[in-house]
Amino acid sequence: MQKVISRPPRGTDDQAEQALCEAELLALEASYCSHGDTVHYTNPPKIFERAEGTFLYDADGKEYLDLQMWYSAVNFGYRNERLNAAVRRQLDRLPQVASQYLHREKIELATIIARDAEQKFGSKGRVHFNVGGSQAIEDSLKLVRNFKNGKSLMFAFEGGYHGRTLGASAITSSYRYRRRYGHFGDRAHFLPFPYHFRGPKGMSKEEYGHHCVKQFERLFESEYNGVWDPKVGEAEYAAFYVEPIQGTGGYVIPPKNFFLELKRVLDERGILLVVDEIQMGFYRTGKLWSIEHFGVKPDAIVFGKALTNGLNPLAGVWAREELINPTIFPPGSTHSTFNANPMGTAVALEAMKMMRETDYETMVMEKGAYLLEGLKDLKRRYPIVGDVDGLGMALRMEICEPHDSFTPSKAIVDRMVDAGLKGDIEVDGRSYGLVLDIGGYYKNVVTLAPSLHISQSEMDLSLQLLDRVLYRVSKE
Ligand SMILES: Cc1ncc(COP(=O)(O)O)c(C=O)c1O
Repeated sequence: MQKVISRPPRGTDDQAEQALCEAELLALEASYCSHGDTVHYTNPPKIFERAEGTFLYDADGKEYLDLQMWYSAVNFGYRNERLNAAVRRQLDRLPQVASQYLHREKIELATIIARDAEQKFGSKGRVHFNVGGSQAIEDSLKLVRNFKNGKSLMFAFEGGYHGRTLGASAITSSYRYRRRYGHFGDRAHFLPFPYHFRGPKGMSKEEYGHHCVKQFERLFESEYNGVWDPKVGEAEYAAFYVEPIQGTGGYVIPPKNFFLELKRVLDERGILLVVDEIQMGFYRTGKLWSIEHFGVKPDAIVFGKALTNGLNPLAGVWAREELINPTIFPPGSTHSTFNANPMGTAVALEAMKMMRETDYETMVMEKGAYLLEGLKDLKRRYPIVGDVDGLGMALRMEICEPHDSFTPSKAIVDRMVDAGLKGDIEVDGRSYGLVLDIGGYYKNVVTLAPSLHISQSEMDLSLQLLDRVLYRVSKE
C-alpha cells in the first residue's frame, strides 16, 4: 500500500503502468474503503487527479467538462484564484482556533449573512455554524423543536432531500435512506410537490401549484384529518421543510404562486417555514437564496456547499431572532469542535464579499437562459428528452423512453453518464469527457449545475457534448 501512495504521478507516456496504478488503487478502494460514505454510480468508479475552472482531469490528462460541479458545492469554479488565495492567507495567519474563542472571520461572515437577510426579509436574525449540510439541518431541527416547546413533527415534500444523518433522513422522502437503521427521530409527513411535468394532465403549472396547497390545507379542515386541534388552535407539526427548487429530486421548479400560497396556510396555522438552500443557495438560481424568487419570508434558512466553494467544509443556519437569541437557544446548544473553523469562515467571508461585488444575478440569469435555449433545441431533436427546464443555472433534462417521451428511463441516463466518463467525445478534432449528475424521483433526470463562471465557448462546448452523448445513446 505504501508503495502505491508514495509513487509520483505518471506522465501520459507511461500509460500501461498508469493503468496498472489505477487498477491497484481501485483494488485497494474495494478492500479498504467503506462504501457507505460514497455512491458508486459507475463501474469502475472514476478517479480524477486535477481540476481547473470548469474541467476535471484524469491521470492521463484527459479533460472532462463538469456540468455538476460537486453537486453545486463549487459554484465559482475549480481553483478559483480569489477564494484559494483567501485559504492560503488564513493558513499563514490563524488556521486553527478552538470554537470557544472568537475569530474575526466568523463574526464578519455571520454579520454579512444576517444583515442581508434582515434587509431582504425584514427580520433581525443570527447565524449558527456547523461543518456540513446535514449537520446544519440537525441544528435547525433543534432550533425549531426548542422554539415549539419540543414539538418534533415536521412536514416535508415528496422528492425532498435534506441529508443522511439520522434526523435529516427522517425528513428526507426516500425510505431507502432509513430502511436499515430504524427510526431515531419522527418521520416527516410528506406532501406532494408541484412537479408539473408528472402532475395530473389538464392543469397549468399555476393551477397545479394551487391544487397542491389546497390538498395541504385540507388537513386543517377537521381535527379528524390528524394534524390540527381546533379547540386550542394548534397544529401538531412544528415546521415545514422545503427546498424551493428540489435538488436531488431532479431540479423541479414550482410555479411562482406556490410558496406564497403555502406560506399563507403556514402562517394561519402557526407552522414555521424552514428553507433548505444547501444546494440551490449562493446564486445557483440567480439569487443568493432561491426562495427570493418566490416573495416569501422564511423563519430559518439552512445553507452549506458553495458557501466555501467546496473548500474547507462549512454550513450554517440563519434564523429569526425569536428562534435563536441566546436566551432561548443558549451557548452549547449544538457545539461541535470544527463548527466555525477559521479556514472555512475565512474562505466563506471572501466568497460573500465576491458575491456582493459581482453582479451574479444578471450573469447567472443570462447564462442560464442561453443554456436553456440550447436544451430546448436538444429536446426538439431527441425524443428521449421528455422535459427541460431551468431557473438561473439550475437546469434539468428529463430522459424518457423515445416512444412517448414520457416514460422515465433510468437506463438511458445511466448510459449517458457512462458515455460522458469514457472521455472520447470528439468536438472539433479534440476528445473530451463530460461529467453529469443524475437526480429525480425516477433517477432519470440529468441535473445540470455548471460553474457560474463558465465561459461562452464552454457553454457552447457543453451543448455540443450533450448533443453528441444524446446522439450516441439514442443510436445504441
Ligand atoms: C437540499 C440539500 N439539503 C441537504 C443536503 C445535505 O448536505 P450534506 O451532503 O453537506 O450533508 C444536501 C446535499 O446534497 C442537499 O442537496
